[in-house]
Amino acid sequence: MVVYKRIVILTGAGLSAESGLATFRDKDGIWSKYDINEVATPEAFARNPAKVHDFYNQRRRGMKNAAPNAAHFALARLEREYPGEVTVVTQNIDPLHEAAGTQRLIHMHGELLKALCAYCEARHPWHDDLSTEIVCPSCGRAGGMRPDVVWFGEMPYRMDEIYDLLYEADLFASIGTSGTVYPAAGFVREARAAGAHTVELNLEPSEGASLFAEKIHGPATVVVPQWVERLLVKAGQT
Ligand code: APR
Repeated sequence: MVVYKRIVILTGAGLSAESGLATFRDKDGIWSKYDINEVATPEAFARNPAKVHDFYNQRRRGMKNAAPNAAHFALARLEREYPGEVTVVTQNIDPLHEAAGTQRLIHMHGELLKALCAYCEARHPWHDDLSTEIVCPSCGRAGGMRPDVVWFGEMPYRMDEIYDLLYEADLFASIGTSGTVYPAAGFVREARAAGAHTVELNLEPSEGASLFAEKIHGPATVVVPQWVERLLVKAGQT
């Protein structure tokens, strides 16, 4: 019987691909159609907020029809049924992990369905379009409302907590991420240094695939439920 005490799972856009949400760096990915420097940096927002709002408004609208897939549900099942602690750290700004039932969840790159006021730093659930005219419900000022997402050049959320989790982890899995964006791409090194077993689950070998002890390649909706089932069987839970 193998029971890990603390499992940390990093997820990326590949996990939501089969829910119909585009990834970033695949052939038809979001960054093949948009320039990062025009839509996903604080400078872009200062220069042309309408363009940045338009980019995120489109993505927010696209989320209305997206539902969690078998991989999201499998990770929620793992958290529910595994005898050790399971935490999901996601780079995804979609709400699909929580929709599937995951509770110990860190949105390190923020959440598209929240707005952040640049003036008073209040956060509000947000399902409609944002624009420069929107008034912050907390401070009443217009022009400061932005998507609550982490842009390139900004510090991802809850990093101290994430590093503490990685130092304590005995299993680290990275699922559906190309392993190109730091600091997330460096988590496997931290987990290895802490002595964790490391697994990559991805459609194809990622940039950092050689850093993982175990590699499982295939679509997330196939390989993640199988992997979760194996972990539960090994822990004597099924
Ligand atoms: N199942 C598993 N993996 C998949 C699937 C699938 N069905 N489809 C695609 N993938 C893999 C791709 O092979 C790729 O390695 O998912 C990965 C997605 O990589 P990216 O598009 O780079 O997405 P991600 O790693 O999440 O990007 C990190 O970059 O632009 C930023 O802030 C954005 O959070 C994002 C960060």
